[in-house]
Amino acid sequence: MWSFVVHAFFLLVALGLHGRVCAQMGSDLSARDGKENTSAPITLTVSKEGGNKSSPHLYGIMFEEMDRSGDGGIHGQLLRNNGFQGSHPGLTAYAPVGDVDIFQDDVSPVSHAITSSLQVQVMPDETKFVGFSNFGYNGIPVINATYRCEFWMMGAYAGPITLQLVGSASGKVYANHNITVHSVFGDFTHHETSFNSSASPDGDNEWRLLFDGSKVAGASLNFGLIQLFPPTFHSRKNGLRKDIATAVDEMQPSFLRFAGGNNIEGLQIDSRWAWNRTIGPVHERPGRQSDWHYPNTDALGLDEYLWWCEDMGMEPVLAVWSGKSYGGILSGPDLEPFLDDIRNELEYILGPSNSTYGSQRAKNGREEPWRLNYIEIGNEDDFTGGCDTYPDRFTQIYKTIHSEYPNITLIASTIDTNCLPESPPEGVWYDFHYYRKPDDLVAMFNWWDNQPRSQPVMVGEYGSRNTSNPDGVYWSFMQMSCSEAAHMIGLERNSDVVRMAAYAPLLQHFGFTQWSPTLIGFDSSPDSLTLSTSYYVQQMFSRNRGETILPVNTTADFGPLYWVACNINDTYIVKLANYGEKNQTVHVEIADTKSGKLEMLSGPRDGINLPHNATIKPTIDNVTVSHGIYTIQMGSWSVAVLVVS
Ligand SMILES: *[C@@H]1O[C@H](CO)[C@@H](O)[C@H](O)[C@H]1NC(C)=O
Ligand SMILES: *[C@@H]1O[C@H](CO)[C@@H](O)[C@H](O)[C@H]1NC(C)=O
Ligand SMILES: *[C@@H]1O[C@H](CO)[C@@H](O)[C@H](O)[C@H]1NC(C)=O
Ligand SMILES: *[C@@H]1O[C@H](CO)[C@@H](O)[C@H](O)[C@H]1NC(C)=O
Ligand SMILES: *[C@@H]1O[C@H](CO)[C@@H](O)[C@H](O)[C@H]1NC(C)=O
Ligand SMILES: *[C@@H]1O[C@H](CO)[C@@H](O)[C@H](O)[C@H]1NC(C)=O
Ligand SMILES: *[C@@H]1O[C@H](CO)[C@@H](O)[C@H](O)[C@H]1NC(C)=O
Ligand SMILES: *[C@@H]1O[C@H](CO)[C@@H](O)[C@H](O)[C@H]1NC(C)=O
Ligand SMILES: *[C@@H]1O[C@H](CO)[C@@H](O)[C@H](O)[C@H]1NC(C)=O
Ligand SMILES: *[C@@H]1O[C@H](CO)[C@@H](O)[C@H](O)[C@H]1NC(C)=O
Ligand SMILES: *[C@@H]1O[C@H](CO)[C@@H](O)[C@H](O)[C@H]1NC(C)=O
Ligand SMILES: *[C@@H]1O[C@H](CO)[C@@H](O)[C@H](O)[C@H]1NC(C)=O
Repeated sequence: MWSFVVHAFFLLVALGLHGRVCAQMGSDLSARDGKENTSAPITLTVSKEGGNKSSPHLYGIMFEEMDRSGDGGIHGQLLRNNGFQGSHPGLTAYAPVGDVDIFQDDVSPVSHAITSSLQVQVMPDETKFVGFSNFGYNGIPVINATYRCEFWMMGAYAGPITLQLVGSASGKVYANHNITVHSVFGDFTHHETSFNSSASPDGDNEWRLLFDGSKVAGASLNFGLIQLFPPTFHSRKNGLRKDIATAVDEMQPSFLRFAGGNNIEGLQIDSRWAWNRTIGPVHERPGRQSDWHYPNTDALGLDEYLWWCEDMGMEPVLAVWSGKSYGGILSGPDLEPFLDDIRNELEYILGPSNSTYGSQRAKNGREEPWRLNYIEIGNEDDFTGGCDTYPDRFTQIYKTIHSEYPNITLIASTIDTNCLPESPPEGVWYDFHYYRKPDDLVAMFNWWDNQPRSQPVMVGEYGSRNTSNPDGVYWSFMQMSCSEAAHMIGLERNSDVVRMAAYAPLLQHFGFTQWSPTLIGFDSSPDSLTLSTSYYVQQMFSRNRGETILPVNTTADFGPLYWVACNINDTYIVKLANYGEKNQTVHVEIADTKSGKLEMLSGPRDGINLPHNATIKPTIDNVTVSHGIYTIQMGSWSVAVLVVS
């Protein structure tokens, strides 16, 4: 640690010499006069020598279907219960339009996978256009854009079909589009069309399908697997909802851990996330009742996850099922069929397009093998009765994958040595998850300092959370975000051994919250996309990364101010978090640097970005100095990133 006396002298010499950031120097002095809410200034001197390599993949994201993060969330398809998937879907989200009766018809499947359709029965004396509506996930976001619509239809009918987007309460019609169809008795036919819509002022909207009731009077028609997409991210078919995906992309995450999380495990063995039930045309995907107790359509399936990774330049971190479900655990010889399943999955992802499974991939629109360098074996296998059998299950799966794909990094789903083989193979990483109250997360600042450097870590899930409330707190606020920043500084300082870290969960639909907070929230209303204060912390840290973590000489211990410095080539980056009520003046000295930018997020302890009222955002200021000393005023509960060269 550098002597404060020497440094204070240096500060006075430097005073007034370095331009814009130093305009606030006056308050430094008064601060040192002892104003009660300001601490003594701290000086950080960044060394240009030494330090450890930082993992290039430190900051990434974790996704699983929960809180309607996928269906009704980042997956673009807007109609709910479109394939009657999961247990007891009933008529959820459907309503009749006109004087008709509607039923879930489970003797008229659309396909072997989509086992029900919607039957619309028309009165004998009908003369008008009638049909049904679907109100999506608490309404449908109706924007000024071109929507793509698909549906299947069965029953004798030749004539017009009207597709509409309509305000449910207002009755206002935002889109009205006619097509002509020829539907036949006894067989489902597929129909697809696009139409423009104008924007609705709110989210209280529904999609309607109407037909000429006079042509069906006294009879019925069946409709199945209805789909409605707004424009998607990178214009992919069956793609991601653009606004949500764009916000995720703007964090510049470097990996995606998927598809869970608890949601790969299954409430029963048979309802686990099974990769081969999530590929191919969506009418071949049966969906499932998820671990979060709602239906998953699996329209966001294995290939869609991999497109998502490719479109955002992320390394996929694929979880494979490790034999643990909530309804039973398979180990020993019982696991063997599932080893074959993993081999098949990897051939599907990585095999040449003339291999058995690689050719299926090609048929599903992807000729070239996907990129896949990281696989996690299960999820939280130290929990829910998994510990005893994990050494065996892990070892079987490890050998299966490693023998064929020696270059894939394999990740154990626990770091608890009680649940791991006695001497795990070299090169394995360990995943550890934690959700903590803000103070406790900050207390974990040095958690990884003594991690053996030969045992790399992925923090596959972490976040600040009020654990005394089972649902957490509704939404992140500045103290929580600041605690995450302080903790992330600890992660980054150890990023030679902490190779990946992801805040979790990522997304929530405000109308279906099961677990909070998350980084990003939304619903069906315009501009509902809400970026939490924690989102901005992730974004600031992820977008500003170095290659080497540099030693820093200081005049103070960590807490309540935390810092980490790194560089890439001639660019130096210092991250700061002030986890406290008092203002803190910080002098950052980086020799031979002149200018750059200072990004700052700050707000009151309880400052919060609420839906339609998100006011806390980072500010970016240019900074220029002449002697390599930057003076930064860290207000209470603030997070800053200084980038200079
Ligand atoms: C110091 O901070 C506390 C806590 O935020 C506040 O109640 C108090 O008014 C502040 N005092 C001054 C002099 O700003
Ligand atoms: C940091 O402190 C050490 C020990 O006092 C000293 O040798 C080194 O030069 C200092 N580094 C910088 C960048 O000032
Ligand atoms: C580099 O890692 C070692 C532990 O292996 C640690 O003691 C040291 O503080 C690290 N250096 C930096 C600059 O983080
Ligand atoms: C709707 O979008 C079109 C095409 O992008 C644009 O030309 C038009 O101005 C938009 N209308 C409104 C009301 O925003
Ligand atoms: C669609 O067809 C209905 C019924 O024939 C008609 O009332 C409506 O005007 C048509 N809409 C458009 C946009 O052509
Ligand atoms: C998926 O693979 C399993 C074997 O691993 C097989 O039993 C099942 O039939 C396959 N399902 C589909 C939809 O291909
Ligand atoms: C696939 O193609 C490669 C190169 O074209 C060839 O060497 C290989 O034998 C083929 N494999 C199969 C299973 O057809
Ligand atoms: C593994 O990586 C090494 C070095 O990067 C490479 O030479 C080798 O071909 C790779 N092996 C496989 C099976 O991909
Ligand atoms: C750092 O330098 C290398 C080698 O000159 C260059 O390829 C790379 O783009 C540079 N990176 C940045 C962020 O400037
Ligand atoms: C916005 O949120 C703040 C609290 O963060 C609250 O004081 C304010 O009343 C809200 N404004 C609106 C328009 O809801
Ligand atoms: C900072 O400098 C860049 C050019 O380097 C300029 O484009 C930007 O407008 C400046 N920002 C501010 C807030 O002055
Ligand atoms: C603390 O810092 C904030 C933001 O830099 C500033 O607005 C405020 O006046 C400062 N308060 C004190 C007591 O210095």
